[in-house]
Amino acid sequence: MTGRYGPTAVVVGASDGLGAAFATELAGRGFNLVLVARRSLLLDELPYGCTRPHGVRVRPLTADVSTVDGVAAVLSSTTADEVGLLVCNAALARSHRSSASRRSSSTPCWT
Ligand SMILES: NC(=O)c1ccc[n+]([C@@H]2O[C@H](COP(=O)([O-])OP(=O)(O)OC[C@H]3O[C@@H](n4cnc5c(N)ncnc54)[C@H](OP(=O)(O)O)[C@@H]3O)[C@@H](O)[C@H]2O)c1
Repeated sequence: MTGRYGPTAVVVGASDGLGAAFATELAGRGFNLVLVARRSLLLDELPYGCTRPHGVRVRPLTADVSTVDGVAAVLSSTTADEVGLLVCNAALARSHRSSASRRSSSTPCWT
């Protein structure tokens, strides 16, 4: 898989949930990783879990991708990497609170 999509994967939203699972799986498949999220503490813990058994390089990057500066930080810190795979796991979603609000409006939020 790294031959086609490697050697480096960027996982945005990697501190928790599906993104952390993607990171662990990709490390197991030999990808070097750039892991992006806002919570640096959680992000800093991940490399130890996923690199130790596999010997891949993992770089945590604290950034809020809902901001222009956050996206710029991701772009500038990965220009030197040969990125073949991007997992966009933090996304803008519409939250519907009730059937009444569903008819009139919805609230965008990042998850
Ligand atoms: N889980 C499901 O069953 C399911 C089903 C359908 C769709 N989805 C979609 O799949 C995505 C991931 O789901 P999940 O359940 O894994 O969510 P989650 O556990 O809440 O994880 C979201 C990840 O995104 C990061 N994140 C959120 N906002 C961010 C931002 N502005 N900048 C950088 N990182 C950000 C969070 O880390 P920080 O808080 O540290 O930034 C976290 O690592 C979501 O977009 C969700 O809507 C999930």
